[in-house]
Amino acid sequence: MGHHSSIRPATTADLPAINAIYNFYVDTSPATFDLTHTTPGWRAEWYAERTGRGLPVLVADTTGEVAGWVCLSPWSPKAAYARTVDESIYIADAFRGRGVGRALSSAVLAEARRLDFHVVMAGVTACQEPSLALHRSLGFVEAGRYAHMGCKLGAWHDVVWLQRHLWQSGD
Ligand SMILES: CC(C)(COP(=O)(O)OP(=O)(O)OC[C@H]1O[C@@H](n2cnc3c(N)ncnc32)[C@H](O)[C@@H]1OP(=O)(O)O)[C@@H](O)C(=O)NCCC(=O)NCCS
Repeated sequence: MGHHSSIRPATTADLPAINAIYNFYVDTSPATFDLTHTTPGWRAEWYAERTGRGLPVLVADTTGEVAGWVCLSPWSPKAAYARTVDESIYIADAFRGRGVGRALSSAVLAEARRLDFHVVMAGVTACQEPSLALHRSLGFVEAGRYAHMGCKLGAWHDVVWLQRHLWQSGD
């Protein structure tokens, strides 16, 4: 990532850009299993739920433009899962392959460690090689592959669940 980029917490002013980045993949990719656009109202609630719980929503800010975002979400409301979170990450198509995803994912793992989480989960559609490679390179290990979990763009897609074990060392 160039030195004109920085990672910072998202603000409500970033929500239209966050939504636009996400909705591009809703339309074009099995990376997300949403089939219809997330609305501004839905996205505002999404942001409030996370920030209200102290969960990170981070953006990569590239000279004023949002190049991508990452967040952590609760894995489950059941209390024993309290230190397990789920990561989501989306990079604007025009900014892919330039290190933005790596920078955001590393930053959110540092936040997860700071917040004393124990496990970070990532559910990756099995055909998404870049995402699998990114997560593996950051120390996520494959925990299981679930067959035909969603149907999108005319095909059934498997989901690979990866875990980052924060009690173990590494990036
Ligand atoms: C997957 C995604 C988050 C990666 O972000 P990115 O900014 O494009 O990736 P980076 O440039 O930071 O590269 C990080 C690593 O990802 C992997 N990667 C990136 N592009 C790749 C490609 N075209 N093919 C294979 N691996 C790739 C590599 O391991 C790379 O590390 P390296 O550069 O040291 O080889 C991004 O492409 C994206 O948003 N994809 C669509 C949505 C999605 O799949 N989201 C994840 C849902 S879990």
